[in-house]
Formats: sequence, C-alpha cells, structure tokens
Amino acid sequence: MSLLPCFLLFLHILWLASLAFGADTVSNTLSKDEVLALRDMAKTLGKNDWDFAVDPCSESYSWVTPETAPGNENSVTCGNCFPINVTNQICHVISIVLKGQNLQGTLPRDLFRLPYLQELDLEFNQLFGSLPKELGNLVQLESLFLTSNNFTGEIPATFAKLTALRDFRIGDNQFSGTIPNFIQNWTNLTRLRISDLNGPDSTFPQLMNVTMLKTLYLTGNFLSGSVPNWTPVSGAMNLFASSSPVNDSGTVSCLRRHANCQTTYNSFHINCGGQQVSTANGDTYDADTDSGGPARFQVGGENWAYSNTGHFMDNDRANYYTWSIQCWLATDIGELYSNARASPNSLTYYGFCLANGNYKVKLHFAEIMFDDDGTYNSLGRRIFDVYIQRKLVLKDFNIVEEAGGLGKVIIKNFIAVVNNSNLEIHLRWSGKGTTRIPFRSVYGPLISAISVESELKQLDLQTGFFSLRQIKAATNNFDITNKIGEGGFGPVYKAHLLKEKGNLMELVDERILGSDFNGEEAMVMIKVALLCTNATATLRPTMSSVVSMFEGSIAVPDLDADSSEVLDGKNLEAIRLYHQLMKENKESEIQEQLASTDGAWSASSSPAANLYPLHLDSANWDKRNKTIAATCSFP
Ligand SMILES: *[C@@H]1O[C@H](CO)[C@@H](O)[C@H](O)[C@H]1NC(C)=O
Ligand SMILES: *[C@@H]1O[C@H](CO)[C@@H](O)[C@H](O)[C@H]1NC(C)=O
Ligand SMILES: *[C@@H]1O[C@H](CO)[C@@H](O)[C@H](O)[C@H]1NC(C)=O
Ligand SMILES: *[C@@H]1O[C@H](CO)[C@@H](O)[C@H](O)[C@H]1NC(C)=O
Ligand SMILES: *[C@@H]1O[C@H](CO)[C@@H](O)[C@H](O)[C@H]1NC(C)=O
Ligand SMILES: *[C@@H]1O[C@H](CO)[C@@H](O)[C@H](O)[C@H]1NC(C)=O
Ligand SMILES: *[C@@H]1O[C@H](CO)[C@@H](O)[C@H](O)[C@H]1NC(C)=O
Ligand SMILES: *[C@@H]1O[C@H](CO)[C@@H](O)[C@H](O)[C@H]1NC(C)=O
Ligand SMILES: *[C@@H]1O[C@H](CO)[C@@H](O)[C@H](O)[C@H]1NC(C)=O
Repeated sequence: MSLLPCFLLFLHILWLASLAFGADTVSNTLSKDEVLALRDMAKTLGKNDWDFAVDPCSESYSWVTPETAPGNENSVTCGNCFPINVTNQICHVISIVLKGQNLQGTLPRDLFRLPYLQELDLEFNQLFGSLPKELGNLVQLESLFLTSNNFTGEIPATFAKLTALRDFRIGDNQFSGTIPNFIQNWTNLTRLRISDLNGPDSTFPQLMNVTMLKTLYLTGNFLSGSVPNWTPVSGAMNLFASSSPVNDSGTVSCLRRHANCQTTYNSFHINCGGQQVSTANGDTYDADTDSGGPARFQVGGENWAYSNTGHFMDNDRANYYTWSIQCWLATDIGELYSNARASPNSLTYYGFCLANGNYKVKLHFAEIMFDDDGTYNSLGRRIFDVYIQRKLVLKDFNIVEEAGGLGKVIIKNFIAVVNNSNLEIHLRWSGKGTTRIPFRSVYGPLISAISVESELKQLDLQTGFFSLRQIKAATNNFDITNKIGEGGFGPVYKAHLLKEKGNLMELVDERILGSDFNGEEAMVMIKVALLCTNATATLRPTMSSVVSMFEGSIAVPDLDADSSEVLDGKNLEAIRLYHQLMKENKESEIQEQLASTDGAWSASSSPAANLYPLHLDSANWDKRNKTIAATCSFP
C-alpha cells in the first residue's frame, strides 16, 4: 500500500470528522497582514492585554471576553472566511468592540489595514488625538462608535466615503468643526449621533435621502438656519433632533412652528414629570407627564416646551424618563416633589413668547430614585450640570448633597435675562456619578419642578432704574421745597442725586437688573432718561436725537457733575401703576392705556422694556418707539 492513498484516506476521514463534529473542528486563522495590523494597533490604542500567542480569531479569553457587564465589552470578531484546507480557514476581522476598557491611547491609522471591518466600537475610553483620515478607507464600516472619549479635531473629509454606515456616534468628545454635509450621502443610516462639536455654526443637516433614519441626536452643537421641513419616512420612533444649546435661530425657528407668540407671557411653572398642581399662593404648575423618549421634543404648555436626548445605557430595562413615588415628601407642596423628569444625557426646558427682561428662575430638586435602605443602594451619587441661557450655573450638582439627604427638597434660585423672548434651562449629564445604583440606568439629570417669573411681577414700588427708596432719598421724600414746578404731567421734583461724574451706575437698582445687565446700555438709558426729564421741555432732546443716542450713532452728552437732576413725580406714579397692573395681570388694560391715552402715558409711563437694557433688533422697534416716546415728552 503506497503512502499517498493512505494519506488521502486519512484526509477523507478528517473531512468526514469535520462534517460530523461540525464547524468546531475547523479553526479560524486571522490573515497574517491583519495580525500584524492588530499588533501595531494594540500599541497605539494602549490595548496591552491582547494575547498574540493565540490566534486573534480563536475567540480565546483575551480576544473575546464572555459575560462582561454592558458598557465593558471586549471582543474581536472574525468573518469573511475562506477555507484553505479541511481544517483551516483564513479569516478577517469584521468587528472590534473595546467598550469601557480604560484605553488611553490614540486611534491607530493602521485600522485601514483591516479592510473588512464592519463594526468599530471604542466608546467609554480615554482615547485622545484626532481621527486618522485613513479611516475613510474602511468602506465596509456599518457601525462606528466613538462616544465618550477625549478625541479632538474635525470629522475627516475622507469619511465621505463611509456610505455603508448605519450607525454613527461621536458624542461626548472634544471635537471641533461642523457637521459635514456629506452625511446626506450616508443613506443607509438608521441612527446618527453627532454632538458637542465645538465649532462654528453648522447648518442643520439635509437628511432628505436618509430615509431609514430612526434616531437623530444633535445635542450640544451650534446649529443655525431653520430646521428643514423634513419628515423621515419610517416614523417608527420619536424623531426630533434635540439641539441644545443651539444657536438661537435654530431653536427659535423650531419653537415658532408651535407658537407664533400671539400673547406675551411673563412666567411659567412646570411640575416636571407630574400632574398639574396649584399651590397655596396661587401658582399653577403645568402638568408635564409626557412619557419621554430618547430623542424627544414636546411642547408642554402655552409657552414652554422640553426636549430630551439620550438612551439610558442599560436599555435592556425600561427607560426612566419620568419617575414617581407613592408618598409625598413632607413639604407643604409635596405634590411637586413626588414626580420628576429624568434624562440619561440632556434635558432642556424652553420658555418662549416671554416678555424680555429679568426672570427669577427657581429649580426645584429632590432625590426620589435612590433608596435609603442602609445597603449599597444608598451609595448612589447623581451628578449633573445645569446651564441657564447657556451659561453654566451649576457644575457637578448633587441633589442629595445639597439638600442634605434623600427625599429632601433643595431649591436653587437664579436670575436670567431674556432678550429674545426665549429662556433655556439645560440640564446635562457629564458622565459623573454612579450609573447602576440602586438599579441600572439611574443617573443623569433629575428635576422636580421649575418656576420662572418675571421680576416685574415682584416689583411694587420699585421704579425702573431707580428704586423708590433712592428717589425718595434724592428728593428728600418729595419735599415741597424741592418742587420746582407743576406741569401738564404732574409735579416735578428737583432730585439731588449725590451723584459723581461717571458714577451713575450706583443709581441702578441691581435687585431689578440683576448683576447680568449690560452696563453700557443701562448707562445710556439713565443718561437719556435724565436728559428727557429736563424741567424745560424745550431743552429735552428731540425724538430723532434720542433714537440716535440709543443706536449709538451720536454720543449721549455727558451730564454735568454739578447739575442736579430732575425727576418727574407723575412718571413715578405711572410706573407704579404700571407695575400694579402687571402684577394683577391686567395686560389688556395696559395696552388700552397705552393706546388710548397716548398723550398722558407718553409723558410719563414706562413700559417694561424701559426698565431693561435696550436691544436694537427690529422686532423691538415698535416697543422701543413707545419706550422712547414714553421716556421723553416731545415738544
Ligand atoms: C491547514 O492549514 C493550516 C494553516 O496553514 C496548517 O497549519 C495546517 O497544518 C493545515 N492542515 C492540513 C491538514 O493541511
Ligand atoms: C482630555 O484632553 C485634554 C486636552 O485636550 C486634557 O486636558 C484632559 O485631561 C483629557 N482628559 C482625560 C480624561 O483624559
Ligand atoms: C445600504 O444597504 C443596502 C441593503 O442592506 C445594501 O444593499 C447597500 O449596499 C447599502 N449601501 C451601501 C452604500 O453600502
Ligand atoms: C454625495 O455623493 C455624490 C456622488 O458620489 C457626490 O457627487 C456629492 O458631492 C456628495 N455630496 C456631498 C455633500 O459630499
Ligand atoms: C437625494 O437623492 C436624489 C436622487 O438620488 C438626488 O437627486 C438629490 O440631490 C438628493 N438630495 C440630497 C439632499 O442629497
Ligand atoms: C446664529 O445663526 C445665524 C444664522 O446663520 C447667524 O446669523 C448668527 O450669527 C448666529 N448666532 C450666533 C450667536 O452664533
Ligand atoms: C442676550 O443675552 C445673552 C446672554 O443671556 C447675551 O449673550 C447676548 O449678547 C444678549 N443679546 C443681546 C442682543 O443683548
Ligand atoms: C436741562 O438741559 C440743559 C441743556 O442741556 C442743561 O444745561 C440743564 O442743566 C438741564 N437742567 C436740568 C435741571 O437738568
Ligand atoms: C420707530 O422709529 C423709527 C425711527 O424714527 C422709524 O423709522 C420706525 O418706522 C418706527 N417704527 C415704528 C413701528 O413706529
């Protein structure tokens, strides 16, 4: 018997055996080129525990770690195999998942040496540096997840070639630049997340042809232009792009679809995550019971809306966008705190159609998701940031710590300036704190209620730039000896404002303006107001010169340091009346007054805008002209 038939028989038996024992007996071998590529990549990535003594396609422990917690997956998957003999096939890397592996390197350009790669998931590491342009050669790539790293730079232009992408996520990094236009060619996308680009304005992406798109996150970018009139075909999920904080024009155009501001409001109250609640002092907190979702925009009240973005990380469980407890907390308005709205990433409340001016913003918090049962459950730490009008106002805010315990109430007060009818309160998880205590998906912002009220509503006898107290002091409590005349618009008092040159700002009542007002504009307002209250009507500036002063095209004359200023008593009275009407919400009456008795009011009244820095946009012209007319009585 020759050896050859014997050997063939042996092979035949092996082959039968391989059939009998299934694919297990066929070993996968990674192509040599790709083994070398992985070796080079390991160094760059900082992946030190790949065991090259065994084949990367062997599925041995270092290459595929079984039963890891979600968020900490470690696997290299091979595919696209072709047999070389009955026991072996040569394969290619089709997927690399290194999630939450504490990698501290950079993204290797050697990745392009894995041309069959379909999935690359490097989320939740500390990778840094820019994305190599060679990645654009991975034209088979269907999923690219780089969220929550420390990458910088722009999305490379070569990514235009990645048209097979179905899922692209690059949020929570330090990327710059804009949202590239070429994503409109990624027509197979079902999910897109490009957030936190620190760049110039991006235009809202044209996604007309991306018909499979189900989830879109564009959180934290600066978007401009209007939201296109684009309706995704599938409609399977909630599809709105939350874009916050965005360039106003984006938000505004989106809000305008829902509200065309027929009415101007000066407050709103929201019982976040709960039913409508009326408090003893007459405030009604609107219901906010929308069940929420990973990419949600919802108009919740007459003049407010909210948007939420984010999947809870462990979404094998239910999503906790709202939360309720059975018992009320032991406070007088416990109802407000037994419900809350939560978000895994970004939660924004928008007020719109608001009168411009200063607002008191009260954010009500109480931790109602943690247990206080003495076990590890009480170790939960919820940490998030809060921005108002895009300014960071609470960094690493921890409700339990601030409130002094679980289920305790903490109310944080802020002053916000509204200058374009909109107010934006943005709560944001920055990746800190625990995420699985007392159960999975407990992290991110949580808020119980919001109340926003114009400071005007709280004014009574305060009068615009000058508090009555200051004016009383300056006129010696309207002492008769300071009365210098009585014209058509009431007594005129000589006010000795202990005034020093350039020190007029001391007259500004900071309680009204907050510390946030535009000093220069306020200064112009004061000076013009003083010029306009000159006892001699003919010495008051003309309408056109006042307009020019406000526009800044002519300088406001410096007031003589020694000259005593004159305030108009009727003016004070009118302002007081105005606030009272505002307080009683008799807006129509104010409008009527303004319209019908223009003469009397123009001599003295002070609409709300007069109390605040002026904004010279065209929308304000109408009001402004009234303001100017009201400030000055023109001969
Ligand atoms: C099949 O190919 C592999 C890899 O080249 C080799 O190690 C193995 O010995 C071969 N098996 C047979 C039966 O030829
Ligand atoms: C991220 O990179 C910045 C510099 O770009 C560095 O200051 C910071 O420490 C890095 N953060 C982490 C967590 O590595
Ligand atoms: C998009 O998906 C379809 C269907 O799965 C596939 O046939 C097509 O090749 C994909 N397009 C690209 C550019 O990869
Ligand atoms: C989209 O793809 C087409 C065809 O390849 C190309 O001509 C066009 O420039 C691409 N659009 C963008 C914005 O990159
Ligand atoms: C969408 O696809 C059509 C047809 O393929 C093409 O003519 C059009 O330019 C595309 N629009 C965008 C915004 O990419
Ligand atoms: C917002 O976008 C508009 C329109 O593109 C632009 O004119 C404006 O300068 C942008 N504003 C800011 C603050 O970036
Ligand atoms: C409006 O207020 C924001 C801050 O809240 C400020 O950055 C912006 O310059 C203001 N715009 C005008 C026109 O004053
Ligand atoms: C009124 O205006 C004139 C001219 O600007 C000025 O000289 C005078 O001091 C002003 N009078 C008062 C009381 O402010
Ligand atoms: C406001 O005043 C300006 C300047 O006098 C004028 O051009 C404009 O038409 C006025 N606007 C309204 C709405 O009255």
